[in-house]
Amino acid sequence: MTPLRAPKGMNDILPAESGAWHHVESIFRSTMGLYGYREVRTPYLETTPLFVRAIGEVTDVVEKEMYSFVHRDDALTLRPEGTAGVARAYIEHRVHNSEPVSRWFYLGPMFRAERPQRGRYRQFYQAGAELFGDPGPHCDAEMIESLVRFLGNLGISDSEVVINSIGGSGARKKYRDALTDFLEPKKHLLSEESQRRLVTNPLRILDSKSPRDEEAVKGAPVILDVLDADDTAHFEGLRRSLDALRMPYRVDPHLVRGLDYYTRTLFEIKGGADKLGAGNTLVGGGRYDNMIAELGGPSVPAIGFAAGVERLLIARSAAEEAPIVSVFVASMGDSAVSCAMTVAQRLRDMSLPCEVDSRGGSLKGQLRRANALGARFAVIVGEAEIASGSVQVKDLAAHSQESVAVDKVAEYLKGKA
Ligand code: HAM
Repeated sequence: MTPLRAPKGMNDILPAESGAWHHVESIFRSTMGLYGYREVRTPYLETTPLFVRAIGEVTDVVEKEMYSFVHRDDALTLRPEGTAGVARAYIEHRVHNSEPVSRWFYLGPMFRAERPQRGRYRQFYQAGAELFGDPGPHCDAEMIESLVRFLGNLGISDSEVVINSIGGSGARKKYRDALTDFLEPKKHLLSEESQRRLVTNPLRILDSKSPRDEEAVKGAPVILDVLDADDTAHFEGLRRSLDALRMPYRVDPHLVRGLDYYTRTLFEIKGGADKLGAGNTLVGGGRYDNMIAELGGPSVPAIGFAAGVERLLIARSAAEEAPIVSVFVASMGDSAVSCAMTVAQRLRDMSLPCEVDSRGGSLKGQLRRANALGARFAVIVGEAEIASGSVQVKDLAAHSQESVAVDKVAEYLKGKA
C-alpha cells in the first residue's frame, strides 16, 4: 500500500518544534501589543470574488496559486493571504463607525499552490497586521519600526528594510505607459510570460525572477520619477520619519510587489540571507488606500504587512529549548507506582509540570528520560522510600540528592523547580 503522506508543500509541526512556534507567536503578540494592536481572527475560507477583486485578476496569486472550489452554490477559496479577509471583516462590521483608527494583527495559515522549496510552502503561516484610518506617512514609518523591533526581539539582527512608493492610480497609469514604451522595442528579449504581461500588467515584469526579464528591465524608467506632488511629499515624509526614528533603509525604485492593491508606500524586509538564500524576504507590506472603498466600504486609508513565520524560524538564531517538564517522578518497583502517581498529582496541584513513568524500568533509564525532558529535578520513589515515608529528590543540574518526606515534596520543590 502507498504510504499516506501530507499534501505536497504542507508540513506537520510536531511537538518537538511547536515550542519554537509559540516563542515566535508570543514575541509577535507582545511586540504588536506595544503599539496598541489587537488580534483579529477571520475565516480560512472566503468567497472567491473577494480575492479576485482585492488582489487583482492579473496577479500570480489569483491566476495560478489559489485553492478554489465550488461547494454547493458557493465559489470559495482557501485564503492565500490575510489582508483581503481582514478588510472584508472591517467593512462588514462597519468598524469605521466606532473607531477612527483600527490596529489589528493576525496569526494563521495561508494557502498558495506554489512550487515548494525551502522557505516556500503551500500551507504557510503569516504573522500580519493591518492599520485602518491613518493616511500616513508617519504611521507607515512606525509600522516599519515595529517590524524591526519584532525581528530584533527574535534575534534576527541582519534585517534590511527596503522601501519604495508606487503613488496613486494617476502615477501608476503614467508609469505603466512609460514602462510599456520602454519595453515594447525589447519585447523579443522578454520571457514568454512577461510578453503577455506587457499587455495585461507590465508592472509585474519588474517582479520577475527570470534572468531574461531582469536583463531587459535594466535602465527602465523608475516610478519615483512620475509620482505626483502629493505622492512625492508622502514618500519624503516617510523617509524623514524613518530618519527621525533612526531606522536605516534602502530605497529600491523597482520594488513593486506581487499584489495589485497597493498605493504609495511599499516595503519589504529581508534577513537571514545565510540561511534562506535568495528567498529571504521575511516581511512584505504596503499601503492600500483604495481597497476598502473598492470593496464597497467607506473611503478609509490602510496599510499593513505580513511576515512568513516559517521564514522567521529559519532566519532567527536558534533559541535555547524550553524544558518539557520541570520535575520527573521515577518509580522503582510495582508497589511504588501509585505512590509516585500521588506525588505527581500533588506537584501538579502546585502547578509544577511533571511526568511520571508508570512503566517503571531501570533507574538509569528513567533518569535518562528525565534529562531528555529537560527536567531540573527527579523524585525517586522506591519500596524502601515508601517504607521510610520519604523520597529521594535529585537535583539534576547540581548533581546533589536529598531525602524529603513524601507529603512535603511538592512544597519543597515549589520555589525551586
Ligand atoms: P506577501 O508578500 O505575498 O504579502 O507575503 C508576505 C510574506 O509571507 C512573505 O514575505 C513571506 O515571508 C511569506 N510568504 C508568502 N508566500 C509564502 C509561501 N508560499 N511560503 C512561505 N512563506 C510565504 C502579503 O501576503 C500581503 N497580504 C502583506 C500585506 C498585508 N500587505 C498589506 N497588508
